[in-house]
Amino acid sequence: METITTKEQLGWREDNLSEEQIERILSEGLSREQIEYIRNMMIEVKVNIGKHLCPTIADLEDVRLFYLGRNGGKITSQLRELGKLPPEKRSEAGKTINIIKEFLIALFLDEHNKRASNEQKERLLHEKIDVTMPGFIPIVGKKHPITHVLGQIVNIFMSLGFEVEEGPEVEYSHYNFDALNIPHDHPARDMHDTFYISDAIVLRTHTSPVQIRVMREKKPPLRIIAPGRVYRRDADVSHSPMFHQVEGLLVDEKTTFGELKAVLEAFLVAMFGKDTPVRFRPSFFPFTEPSCEVDIGCVICNRKGCGVCKQTGWLEVLGAGMVDPEVFKWVGYDPEKYIGFAFGLGVERLTMLKYGIDNIRLFFENDLRFLRQF
Ligand code: DAH
Repeated sequence: METITTKEQLGWREDNLSEEQIERILSEGLSREQIEYIRNMMIEVKVNIGKHLCPTIADLEDVRLFYLGRNGGKITSQLRELGKLPPEKRSEAGKTINIIKEFLIALFLDEHNKRASNEQKERLLHEKIDVTMPGFIPIVGKKHPITHVLGQIVNIFMSLGFEVEEGPEVEYSHYNFDALNIPHDHPARDMHDTFYISDAIVLRTHTSPVQIRVMREKKPPLRIIAPGRVYRRDADVSHSPMFHQVEGLLVDEKTTFGELKAVLEAFLVAMFGKDTPVRFRPSFFPFTEPSCEVDIGCVICNRKGCGVCKQTGWLEVLGAGMVDPEVFKWVGYDPEKYIGFAFGLGVERLTMLKYGIDNIRLFFENDLRFLRQF
């Protein structure tokens, strides 16, 4: 058998195998027949993985398995069959098949890499970002205007040294009325004005009962505010059956109406701006004596007179006064020893004035066109 070890012996110019592959083959000293077999096998495989037959990596893998698959791959099987050949043929056939296997492994790897980089290019082409397209504006939630203003109110009073207390919305009518010195014939106690749960229990109509709860539990000095929801049978453009109040209470062995004025002025200026006019008018509340109502100069018309301030130039924003000694008696404080002041304000009303809102229902209708403005 003629073994071929030089290109001259081979006698043909080979296009299907590379120079290195030819040298590799020649180094094994194979017969012409075996070399032809290698060449034909390489041609066959190249035809089978031609681009149009297996454009994708998955197609390529099918062809690879057909030749090199562990179970039943054409070349793999031939390697397994080697043992069945007569010994004199075994060595040459073994060299041939191993060369083919070696070449095919390299070929498939190469083809795989080509497809991988093409597939990546394709993907990147489609993933291209058009920076001139308008973007999505994410919908960001924000605080409800009432929550926002409530937070501002609480912060201002906390900066003045007040602590936050809370009480239940379902309250003893005793705490809501009697302990606050509200007489039995007071109109607020009427079934028509208040949500009664039973004879003795109501939805609190104001945050003032928190005063009673705090004073029953703690000894002076006290300096608290009590924000929360309150309920009244009332509904029109400026009244809602549920709304928010903030109660304030200070009790000590010494304080004055002047200090009450200073605290409320400091609060209103922080809330509405430094040149806000503030005035105190005498008024009446059963749980304070003396009592007052506090007005600010109309923020809508700048005190010229308009519909919102009913042509007075002033807007009522809160009620206040010195704690009535009767209330101290209810909670067991010695009215000779202690003195205090209290105040209460409506959060919806304050928010409406601050932002010029003319209908309280806007706060509760959840219309995003309204809510997004804050
Ligand atoms: N509780 C009163 C109301 O709902 C507001 C109020 C007025 C509270 C005077 C007070 C106060 O603490 O001193 O109308």
